[in-house]
Amino acid sequence: MTQVLDKPHDVLADLLAPQMEAVNGLIRDRMSSKHAPRIPEVTAHLVDAGGKRLRPLLTIAAAEMCGYTGPYHVHLAATVEFIHTATLLHDDVVDESQQRRGRPTANLLWDNKSSILVGDYLFSRAFQLMVEPGSLRVLDILSNASATIAEGEVLQLTAARDLATTEDTYLQVVRGKTAALFSAATEVGGVIAGASDAHTSALFEYGDALGIAFQIVDDLLDVVGDSKATGKNIGDDFRERKLTLPLIKAIAAGDDHERVFWKRTIEKGNQQQDDLDYAISLMKKHGAIEATRQDALSWAHKAQSAIRTLPDHPLRDILDQLALYVVERIK
Ligand code: IPE
Ligand code: IPE
Ligand code: MG
Ligand code: MG
Repeated sequence: MTQVLDKPHDVLADLLAPQMEAVNGLIRDRMSSKHAPRIPEVTAHLVDAGGKRLRPLLTIAAAEMCGYTGPYHVHLAATVEFIHTATLLHDDVVDESQQRRGRPTANLLWDNKSSILVGDYLFSRAFQLMVEPGSLRVLDILSNASATIAEGEVLQLTAARDLATTEDTYLQVVRGKTAALFSAATEVGGVIAGASDAHTSALFEYGDALGIAFQIVDDLLDVVGDSKATGKNIGDDFRERKLTLPLIKAIAAGDDHERVFWKRTIEKGNQQQDDLDYAISLMKKHGAIEATRQDALSWAHKAQSAIRTLPDHPLRDILDQLALYVVERIK
């Protein structure tokens, strides 16, 4: 009963606490640098602020539910968190963000150059780590994910400000920039455990759908979230003129008068003080927030269908619940 009431993410962290301690130890060990103290300074600023550690939890859980008993899932979990951390450093430069994990961003505290270069260092550290289990298949999955994330970020960049951006393009962006790392995190867990092809692809499908639901909700939280809970600024996407799903839906439903507003604020970038509030009111008026939440929920259900094809396991049930939690979460 309590298990149902507890957040699945916390239950997972609790059950996998010793493994996650090993992951955190490895992260701390590999974020060091002999010659450049700026590297551990910037990294510790982000790593010490916590973060949900969702991706490494997924890798450890996937490996263990497939019967893995060796040590290398810890390396792979640290690898995905390193890739995640590197993308966050880069992402906050690209998005000109000022707050992350409840702290001022590294680009604000240091500068863009430090964030980019330390991000590059962490990517390289991730590649060193992913070699250690000695599996070419794992290397293939993680290096592909890394390229796909960058591709998603660039696609998003070129789709920004374009009122003609479709839901299909949005899906392609989130699948690249976010879901690719979730699906790689779950898939490598299965691969390192020597799981069957059917189970490994179910883990991939789960991570892909979970990651899409996760990013859709991240985009919702940028509109209707509480910055105290998310640890990030609200309205960044609107200011950055990003075509996220609630915005795409509101634009599609808008009349000519509203289109003038979107042209001015998103296409031309001429934004005034109350524009964000008005944009949110339009999204609400057209039911775009609710429709976006429904889309996230339907991806969560896809994730559940995929994970339910794996054999019975207590961790499987928690991953099943995690899919719904990702939609309900407020941070
Ligand atoms: C933030 O991911 C980046 C996105 C893909 C939305 P998380 O929300 O998992 O970030 P942390 O690690 O918990 O801070
Ligand atoms: C996160 O994208 C995806 C990556 C970090 C690659 P966002 O820009 O939407 O995430 P937040 O809201 O800054 O965490
Ligand atoms: Mg961002
Ligand atoms: Mg971004």
